[in-house]
Amino acid sequence: MFKKLVFAVVALGSLGLAGFGLLAWQPAIAPVAPPATVSFAPELVAKGEALAGGGYCAACHTRKGGERFAGGYAMETPFGVIYSTNITPDPETGIGTWSEAAFARAMQKGVSRDGSHLLPVFSYDHFTKLSDDDVRALYAYFMTRAPVPTERQPNGIPFPFNIRYLQAGWKLLYFRAGRFEPDVSKSSEWNRGAYLAQGLSHCGACHTPRNLLGAEKSGNAYGGSVIDNWVAPPLTAANPAPTPWTQEELYDYLRTGASKVHGTAAGPMFPVVQGLGALPDSDIRALATYFADVDKAADRLPYVSGAVSLAMSSTLAKEGAPSDPDARLYIAACASCHYNATNAPLAARPDLSLNSAVHLADPNNLVQVILRGISAKEGMPGVVMPAFGSALSDADVVRIAAYLRRTRTDLPPWPDLAAKIAAIRRQYDAAK
Ligand code: HEC
Ligand code: HEC
Ligand code: HEC
Repeated sequence: MFKKLVFAVVALGSLGLAGFGLLAWQPAIAPVAPPATVSFAPELVAKGEALAGGGYCAACHTRKGGERFAGGYAMETPFGVIYSTNITPDPETGIGTWSEAAFARAMQKGVSRDGSHLLPVFSYDHFTKLSDDDVRALYAYFMTRAPVPTERQPNGIPFPFNIRYLQAGWKLLYFRAGRFEPDVSKSSEWNRGAYLAQGLSHCGACHTPRNLLGAEKSGNAYGGSVIDNWVAPPLTAANPAPTPWTQEELYDYLRTGASKVHGTAAGPMFPVVQGLGALPDSDIRALATYFADVDKAADRLPYVSGAVSLAMSSTLAKEGAPSDPDARLYIAACASCHYNATNAPLAARPDLSLNSAVHLADPNNLVQVILRGISAKEGMPGVVMPAFGSALSDADVVRIAAYLRRTRTDLPPWPDLAAKIAAIRRQYDAAK
């Protein structure tokens, strides 16, 4: 899921900067004897477990079919393959000999115990905002896991990008270490949501566009981005869905994987919802409060019921033209489930005219969902949308996607639809 995060891992042109050598050099922190499990309070370990869920550590640090947290998960970048590391407390191949100070430095400054710089595919640019207490709890959790020895996979990054020393240049340009600073003009719930979003749960890692060197564009936070051939839609007022993401819709989506008028958390968003499952309801509410402010939902609140009725009535009217062969194809393949007889859409029968997938500038998410379907564990637990990857040809998918775009939105048709579908089909076939 987290593959091909299009993060650059370079630091160019910074070598000439005066004093660079001094900045780049970080001392090793001496190894310690692995601390005894009993030396950590159980409450601290439990807190760390919840935080590890909310930071999706397992999603990146577990290889397919491998032991949890033992690393080896491959992430493709434009600079080559990078493998995550073993963060179980194995003394030889994991972090068993890391002191708390060494762990905290990795999380908050992106420096490994031996003093080498870590690559920004590891979200230390967000984790730097974690409080010292939360870092302590994460340390307690990881040091009390079972140690799993695993050989470290050498990264497939060519020279000169594999020189970790050069990462200091990237940091100089784009990284500011520092704990989260609350905004005193906002509520404590808002600040809790901001802390989680900007730090632990690093929502911007996927939802904020990046520059050519792979750094998030700070001036366009949550402005939307592309990951693994999926679009992570804007979480700002620029979100294209006909109705705003209100606090209630966000809460349902992040807590249950689906919301009534917006649809489902599929693709790379699914492990996010799964990880957030470890956090209490109050934290999910805080995230929802924060993002309902980021997207200015309150401004559009008065129009929600109108927008829903309009979308629903147009849906009902538009299917009534069976002479259109595209409409017939859509009715045969999709309408049995994506049809609501009343004006109130049900989460289990998502109304596609309200879904971001048909309104985004790219057809990726719609095509991904048509080809792959949504398994019982993704989206709403136990609810399935069948995969059409084998049942429909690329030409059929073009017709259905173009039909939905034409009848569900006032937006221009998607250019290059066939090429996009072919590219996503190749990705889908390769993963089979
Ligand atoms: C988006 C993927 C991703 C997520 C999420 C992630 N990591 Fe990592 N992490 C990596 C990668 C990749 C590396 C290796 C970076 C490198 O080689 O420079 C890494 C390195 C580390 C290291 C340094 C290990 C070493 O041997 O130097 C620590 C410690 C770590 N991660 C802890 C965590 C914790 C704790 C969490 C959850 C709060 C977490 N990571 C979440 C991808 C991730
Ligand atoms: C690993 C990448 C990734 C991370 C991290 C991530 N998202 Fe997403 N998000 C996505 C993708 C991809 C989609 C589109 C999923 C779909 O269409 O089913 C998405 C969809 C969404 C949507 C639905 C938007 C719409 O208009 O349909 C919301 C809301 C959302 N994410 C919120 C969040 C929040 C809040 C966080 C942090 C707690 C977060 N995301 C972290 C990748 C990510
Ligand atoms: C057998 C019933 C069924 C059929 C047939 C079906 N779907 Fe779905 N679809 C669902 C369900 C159920 C969900 C929500 C799944 C969940 O939340 O777990 C869904 C979700 C979706 C979503 C929302 C994804 C998101 O990220 O928000 C899209 C888009 C979609 N379907 C498009 C289609 C298209 C296009 C067709 C026809 C090619 C189709 N579906 C056929 C049941 C169906």
